[in-house]
Amino acid sequence: RQVNEAEAPSEADIASPEDARAAISGCRRCGLYEHATQAVFGEGPQDADIVFVGEQPGDQEDLQGRPFVGPAGQLFDEALVKVGINRERVYVTNAVKHFKFTPRGKRRIHQKPDGGEVSACRFWLDLERSFLKPRITVALGATAAHSLFGKTVTISKSRGQPITDDKGDVLFVTNHPSYLLRIPDKAAAAVEREKFEADLAAIRDYV
Ligand code: URA
Repeated sequence: RQVNEAEAPSEADIASPEDARAAISGCRRCGLYEHATQAVFGEGPQDADIVFVGEQPGDQEDLQGRPFVGPAGQLFDEALVKVGINRERVYVTNAVKHFKFTPRGKRRIHQKPDGGEVSACRFWLDLERSFLKPRITVALGATAAHSLFGKTVTISKSRGQPITDDKGDVLFVTNHPSYLLRIPDKAAAAVEREKFEADLAAIRDYV
């Protein structure tokens, strides 16, 4: 997956999703490239109806170069199966394409990207969406929602319903699967998981 940067098109020459995927390996729009293993671009069919946008790659995603393949991705996959959305028919990406972390011993602890990193990376998210032209884009969590709406969005108030933005694009908002994994109380986690699946079911029914 590593691209020879000398052969990658410059950002100004990007004319296709393949160009974008190649060019992002040389991205210096923010400082996160310095410590991450690689940029993790979105994945899925170019004619997908639905684009899911997470926050940023996690540890596993950073190593494998693919979005949502770690624990959050597993929960996401299970929820998709449960509501009958085929992951192979959707496009999955992130608001920020490089993993941000602090080392702790042998572990790398996820750090939330800041506003500057999210807005620097919006270039790539906008590009992906301009190529894909999906019917709906789904923000998984507050970081993605902030990137997509350009402002803070309260998930509890906006979730599970189509929202048309200034450009006429239809967006949905729901929680991030990592959030569900972090709820310590089992009963509370089960309730939140049901809400997440209900949001996915609303998305399935809309498309
Ligand atoms: N969390 C995200 O937001 N994206 C991933 O790709 C994995 C975990």
